[in-house]
Amino acid sequence: MTDRYAVIGNPVAHSKSPWIHAEFARSTRQDIEYLRIEAPHDGFARTVGEFRSANGRGANVTLPFKEAAYRYCDEVSPEGRLAGAVNTLAFAPTGTRGENTDGSGLLRDLTVNLGFSMRGRVILVLGAGGAARGLLGPLAGAGATRIVIANRTVAKAQALAQRFSGSSVEACGFDALAGRDFELVINATSAAMDHDAPRIPTSVFRKGALAYELVYGRDTPFLALARRCGAATADGTGMLVEQAADSFFLWRGIRPHTAPVIAALRAG
Ligand code: ATR
Repeated sequence: MTDRYAVIGNPVAHSKSPWIHAEFARSTRQDIEYLRIEAPHDGFARTVGEFRSANGRGANVTLPFKEAAYRYCDEVSPEGRLAGAVNTLAFAPTGTRGENTDGSGLLRDLTVNLGFSMRGRVILVLGAGGAARGLLGPLAGAGATRIVIANRTVAKAQALAQRFSGSSVEACGFDALAGRDFELVINATSAAMDHDAPRIPTSVFRKGALAYELVYGRDTPFLALARRCGAATADGTGMLVEQAADSFFLWRGIRPHTAPVIAALRAG
């Protein structure tokens, strides 16, 4: 029977993962089936159990279940533990292993696809919710000189920065960014969902800075602001495909080429 994988979320109709994984399977000649499963808000574990019984070998997990997925696992990778959330499950007879490939996917998009070397850089991460939490471990481990987490609610940024005590991660509110500038500004807030941008001083974009929006496939107020400030911009399409490629590698032991898939998604 064909090995089955799925993306589990709610809502999940918009997910590009089935298409991305079908492309990976085609290009690597892997015989897999990849489904889209909407779990009820109170039924994540039950839904996963049913999928496993139906030859499910692994799953991607998207909003709002990444924390529930973390709790479901018997074993979790260091990145997943740091994030308290996982986006990839691998099922084995001995139990379920969870990984968080969001941070590694972002890092690969930045360093490989966009040619942005992290070493010695000064980085600003906007937001301190689940998305930011998933990124910080890999970002902090990539050699940046300083990472500042800025959030509308300062206490949440401080709590997140504390997980990296002794390292180069610090926290502040948006106002405290006045007079500081950064080589990379990552928008990990959900402001785009409200057609809004974080209220940051425009001076945060150092000359030649890169502004990265985690949301993919559309222009956002944050990207528009960054362009007005002269920054280069990238949306989250590359990260989306790279995190999928990391999941695919974990499941199948083979790394698909991502460039054609990113290009096809960008072309719409
Ligand atoms: P999740 O954990 O699911 O990612 P969340 O915890 O609600 O979602 O986090 C969303 C992030 O986007 C938070 O950092 C939030 O800021 P607050 O902690 O102050 O709520 C941030 N956010 C959402 N809308 C925003 C907006 N319009 N401007 C700035 N930040 C915003």
